[in-house]
Amino acid sequence: MTQKIAILPGDGIGPEITAQAVRLLDKLIAQGLDAEYEYAPLGGAAYDQYGSPYPEATQTLCRAADAVLLGAVGGPQYDTLPRPVRPERGLLAIRKDLNLFANLRPAVLFPELADASTLKPEVVAGLDILIVRELTGDIYFGEPRGIRTLDNGEREGFNTMRYRESEIRRIAKVSFEAAQRRNKKLCSVDKANVLETTELWKEIFTEVSKDYPDVELSHMYVDNAAMQLVRAPKQFDVIATGNIFGDILSDQASMLTGSIGMLPSASLDENGKGLYEPSHGSAPDIAGQNKANPLATVLSLAMLLRYSLKDEARAAQVENAVQKVLQQGFRTADIAEAGAKVLSCSQMGDALLDAL
Ligand code: NAI
Ligand code: MG
Repeated sequence: MTQKIAILPGDGIGPEITAQAVRLLDKLIAQGLDAEYEYAPLGGAAYDQYGSPYPEATQTLCRAADAVLLGAVGGPQYDTLPRPVRPERGLLAIRKDLNLFANLRPAVLFPELADASTLKPEVVAGLDILIVRELTGDIYFGEPRGIRTLDNGEREGFNTMRYRESEIRRIAKVSFEAAQRRNKKLCSVDKANVLETTELWKEIFTEVSKDYPDVELSHMYVDNAAMQLVRAPKQFDVIATGNIFGDILSDQASMLTGSIGMLPSASLDENGKGLYEPSHGSAPDIAGQNKANPLATVLSLAMLLRYSLKDEARAAQVENAVQKVLQQGFRTADIAEAGAKVLSCSQMGDALLDAL
């Protein structure tokens, strides 16, 4: 059956970078990929057109789609809007609407870009890890929460860390399946020595591991994981963790690579449908100048092919094209070493098409 992809260019550099990914998608379709795509607005672009950051037309398209490719949303021109119609609300709304509970954030450092990291090249060159972060539970959403006044008049803030077995089991499944597609090592990160919620997390991961005998499961406390990520990050393959630990560790891991323009992400639901987007924002400072790095978006397209369209061969084909242009010395401004020839966003798209 023809797979349906919704393309949401969004704001700022969003349209420029998604355009390059779509050029590759067109070529893959011409080569036989059985997919079709349609555009819809999200964020500021949607507010401008419909008065809402996640309008009905976009909802309808995304609900019917097998996968969604997003550029980025937001920009200074929207910062004075009332909160409910700001671009970021569009992003939160689509994540919630599509029930995207599994956030996959790879941190890959192509050997050619080892100098971009603040860590020593030998520590990070060739780094290829994947952080799986649970996105809809944990202390961010647990009730009760609030700020209350105690009997003695002092105020107290409180939040509640909660995970249900079913929530842990479904993120465990996604994590094990991701590890199966990679180097078959999964590290579950918890704080089970102190937090009962994560004790349950650890227990369920151990239980689910019986269904994946080919994946080697290990456990690590989150404080140690933070240390190990900067000490010897290449020891990891897939790291799975809850919402709050994952928020912090995934940002930490992404900076091991030093180049925000290179990092894709995926957010998946229970049926493999997903939203794919670069980890960076809409970069208003360079928007409209044809300068942005489209590689994070192109690598997001590769994830879309892998996780939603289940087309590992074409996912690898797109990733190999990225690798090839880097080997050829092509750079956009954000990743260019001194003296390198700097390509525009669309010239990088040209090089990628050739490489594909
Ligand atoms: P940002 O990621 O947009 O930009 C940070 C810096 O990185 C800027 O100097 C920018 O030029 C550069 N940069 C980012 N992506 C790049 C690329 N592909 N190529 C070359 N350089 C790149 O983060 P910032 O400035 O904090 O936010 C700008 C806007 O984006 C805000 O409105 C923010 O709310 C929104 N935003 C949206 C996100 C999303 O759509 N998922 C995520 C983060 C921020
Ligand atoms: Mg964060």
